[in-house]
Amino acid sequence: MSKKQRPVALVTGAGQGIGRGIAVRLATDGYDVVINDVVADPANTETGAYEVKRAIEAVGGWAEVFRADVASADGRKAMVGFAADTFGRIDLLVNNAGIAPKERKDILEATEESFERVMSINLQGPYFLTQLVANRMIAWLAEGKVVKPRIVFISSISAYTSSTFRGEYCISKAGVSMAAKLYADRLGEYGIGVLEISPGIIATPMTSTVKEKYDKLIAGGLLITKRLGQPEDVAAVVSAFAQGYLDYSTGQRIEVGGGFGLRRL
Ligand SMILES: NC(=O)c1ccc[n+]([C@@H]2O[C@H](COP(=O)([O-])OP(=O)(O)OC[C@H]3O[C@@H](n4cnc5c(N)ncnc54)[C@H](O)[C@@H]3O)[C@@H](O)[C@H]2O)c1
Repeated sequence: MSKKQRPVALVTGAGQGIGRGIAVRLATDGYDVVINDVVADPANTETGAYEVKRAIEAVGGWAEVFRADVASADGRKAMVGFAADTFGRIDLLVNNAGIAPKERKDILEATEESFERVMSINLQGPYFLTQLVANRMIAWLAEGKVVKPRIVFISSISAYTSSTFRGEYCISKAGVSMAAKLYADRLGEYGIGVLEISPGIIATPMTSTVKEKYDKLIAGGLLITKRLGQPEDVAAVVSAFAQGYLDYSTGQRIEVGGGFGLRRL
């Protein structure tokens, strides 16, 4: 296949963790990938976005890094412009970039500053990036440049689980969950499918500082599948969706959490 015939995925926050797992999996599935991250140093090919580019090239894929902050309107515009100019299409958008609050603070003490930071990156960013990409996808569909575009929102079990020491994160992810429903509804007439994936506790740099706590909880019976999730567990669901196996499930949420969400007695 010539470069421009291959489908293209734009994955935000793909320089490490879950985003990295998704980007590499999609490349093995035959996607070319735009690796977005707010941190990206071309001189460092051992870790971060340029390591991911290298990993994708190693499996025969084409990947380019685009450094941008999803919370910035200009950054989002530039990112989508780059994908359009370089690859000519986006078949799959994966809204993955997200942060935890800098400090875990009780909701009786947490600050508006932290609330605004988390909401702008975790919710406003993907909400308006999706608006930009969806409009492009609609135009590309009309021009026959894409056939079946799809959009993924990575939310969290925190969208429906109370953690009173990081309320702003929970609220941002509850918002992401609704964003997925809204876009599934609005984009259905174009055949653009939307999926929400809510990871449980996944082993990434984000959770490395609280790993011990979660290991104990898992040993104590928190999960049905007694291990932390891996980025590859989330990537497998993205892959199934990207290949069209979940096309009759638009607007739905899939939890990747080892059974976390199951009520048990
Ligand atoms: N790890 C988990 O247990 C877990 C569970 C549920 C949901 N999630 C969600 O999955 C997503 C990925 O999490 P992770 O654990 O891989 O995190 P991570 O911190 O390991 O990686 C996140 C990546 O996103 C990038 N990023 C941060 N802010 C950005 C911005 N403004 N613009 C662009 N890129 C940005 C970071 O530089 C980093 O490379 C997040 O949305 C997170 O909320 C993670």
